[in-house]
Amino acid sequence: MNTTQEIRAIQFSSKKPDFDFDNIRDCWCDIRHMRVLWEAASLITPEAEKYVMRSVSAYNKDPIIKDNPWLKTLVDEFMEQEREHTKIHKQLNKALGMHHIDVESKMAKTLRDLTKDLSKLDALATAAALEHLFFSVIKLTFIDTGFYKDETVDPKVLDVFRWHWCEELEHHSVTLSLLAQLDTSYKARMYGAYNTIFKFLPVCSQIILEVERFHYPKYYLLNTAIDMVKISNYFRKGFDISAKYFKPEYDIVQAGEWSWPYIEEWRKKIGYEESVQVRSNISEIKA
Ligand SMILES: [Fe+2]
Ligand SMILES: [Fe+2]
Repeated sequence: MNTTQEIRAIQFSSKKPDFDFDNIRDCWCDIRHMRVLWEAASLITPEAEKYVMRSVSAYNKDPIIKDNPWLKTLVDEFMEQEREHTKIHKQLNKALGMHHIDVESKMAKTLRDLTKDLSKLDALATAAALEHLFFSVIKLTFIDTGFYKDETVDPKVLDVFRWHWCEELEHHSVTLSLLAQLDTSYKARMYGAYNTIFKFLPVCSQIILEVERFHYPKYYLLNTAIDMVKISNYFRKGFDISAKYFKPEYDIVQAGEWSWPYIEEWRKKIGYEESVQVRSNISEIKA
């Protein structure tokens, strides 16, 4: 049956933004654990994005995407956003002087090994688990803490994170929606969560340690321990958010839909409500 539906896709006017990386304050954020957390996130971004792009694009030629214009729209938008995030975070890492911290190679190896060792399906489930982790981190540590509006933070750096996290909020849904077309078992999701917790997160901890050592070489072990406790505290209240990854029906995008009111509410909070445009292409979707 052919139905005519509106594809509602979020298109940020900031999409290929022209960020200003000149003269960023050396100490762009006074709160040490937040500075370390977001710098580590920025360092992790290029390799993590490449992994999720590899895992999703492995299905590009598969009829599951090729023959589903709605899913293809989601995936194309997703890939375009991730490519841009990778590029901008490399620039930010350079502007912050962090590109000398050699952690990308550790992360790159871990994630390349996952691509090599996992089946296509398990690699995708792991990508979905990673995207859900990023979603939880953004919700619990960027939005709920009010960091997005902290006036003591250098606005040039904050702008990059606000832009990226606004787009990132939907990515868990794109990967979960693709996964749900292929497999709805707990087994695949459990394995994705296992890889995230036991393979990805340990490298993230090493990166946090290296960032601490880079900035505060004298007491970096003690500082890392204190900051990790502070960061972990944000997640205490968020167990239910993280656990939603295991609900098979959670945030699956229905054909013709793209976003949810709660995400648009969060975007408004972050300050992007005016930038969100609805691209209302009337498209033929084979239902
Ligand atoms: Fe991203
Ligand atoms: Fe993403």
